[in-house]
Amino acid sequence: MHPFDRAFRLILPVGAVAVLVTVLAVGWFTEPDQLLKGYEPAQPIPFSHKLHAGTMKVPCLYCHVGATRSRIAGVPSVETCMNCHRVTKTDSPAIIQLTRIYESGRPLLWKRIHDLPDYVYFDHRPHVHAGIACQTCHGEVQTMDVVYQHMSMRMGNCLGCHRDPHAALPEHSPVKRGPENCYACHR
Ligand code: HEC
Ligand code: HEC
Ligand code: HEC
Ligand code: HEC
Ligand code: HEC
Repeated sequence: MHPFDRAFRLILPVGAVAVLVTVLAVGWFTEPDQLLKGYEPAQPIPFSHKLHAGTMKVPCLYCHVGATRSRIAGVPSVETCMNCHRVTKTDSPAIIQLTRIYESGRPLLWKRIHDLPDYVYFDHRPHVHAGIACQTCHGEVQTMDVVYQHMSMRMGNCLGCHRDPHAALPEHSPVKRGPENCYACHR
């Protein structure tokens, strides 16, 4: 047998299978946990949604103004917290820490929880304007002391709702579907 024949018949297929298995295994075990449900990193200040958005009923949009105005909902600046905490609970260690950050002029580096890969395009506006509640995607945030990722950020989850969003929409909504063409989310 010619040496090249042997290479093509045996070594190449075996090599190809080995490479494939390695790629799949590495992918499986190093999959970023950010795409999975339940991701819940510790935050620099123990801010509680349960207290602020639940008990005190501060509207989501008071702090996440971007959700109706831009692609990203955004997190509030320390300035927004200080609207209340210049006078509220100023003797609490967490608020003393908050005030120190405010006075230093440095931003408060909250750990990001939801984070799609860069090649995915998401925009809050069409979703919020269609009447989909924050809770449909983010869960009952107003009952969470620490926010965790409620939704799966997998493509199949986006597409599942886009194919049949009616359960997420207000009754008699004129919206029937979300886009399924690749370019809508990968542009
Ligand atoms: C008083 C201000 C305030 C209010 C009101 C508020 N939030 Fe937040 N939210 C924050 C801050 C600060 C963070 C970042 C720290 C954290 O994750 O707890 C945050 C984080 C989040 C995150 C996670 C962001 C990420 O990194 O992925 C979601 C989702 C969220 N809020 C949704 C909501 C919803 C839904 C409501 C209404 C039910 C709401 N928030 C009300 C201040 C607020
Ligand atoms: C609308 C007013 C308001 C806003 C805005 C607000 N808070 Fe509060 N926050 C309160 C009140 C009132 C309490 C105290 C409730 C209680 O225990 O009596 C509180 C309690 C807290 C506590 C617990 C303090 C302790 O030791 O008990 C932390 C931490 C806190 N807030 C952080 C924040 C952060 C961070 C922001 C900005 C993202 C923020 N708050 C925005 C009103 C506000
Ligand atoms: C259709 C599902 C959906 C709805 C409805 C929705 N979100 Fe989100 N939200 C997401 C996704 C997906 C991300 C991650 C975006 C990224 O990583 O680029 C996100 C990210 C966030 C973040 C992190 C900062 C940012 O903007 O990336 C906050 C805060 C947030 N959402 C708050 C809200 C609030 C408040 C509402 C309601 C007014 C809301 N969301 C409605 C899916 C949704
Ligand atoms: C709970 C239902 C639901 C989920 C989950 C959802 N979407 Fe949507 N999305 C919709 C609906 C409904 C529309 C159409 C809104 C309209 O036509 O007014 C839409 C529209 C869009 C659009 C079109 C925006 C435009 O400017 O035309 C994009 C992009 C999009 N979604 C991306 C995503 C991505 C990425 C995810 C997953 C991370 C996602 N969506 C998850 C319901 C959902
Ligand atoms: C509604 C939004 C949406 C649409 C439409 C969509 N995608 Fe995606 N896609 C995503 C999201 C979110 C991710 C990242 C999460 C994941 O990997 O599941 C992704 C990831 C991917 C990946 C990377 C997969 C991986 O595991 O690394 C490929 C390839 C891809 N999409 C191809 C496509 C093609 C081809 C189409 C058209 C048939 C398409 N997508 C349509 C949202 C979408």
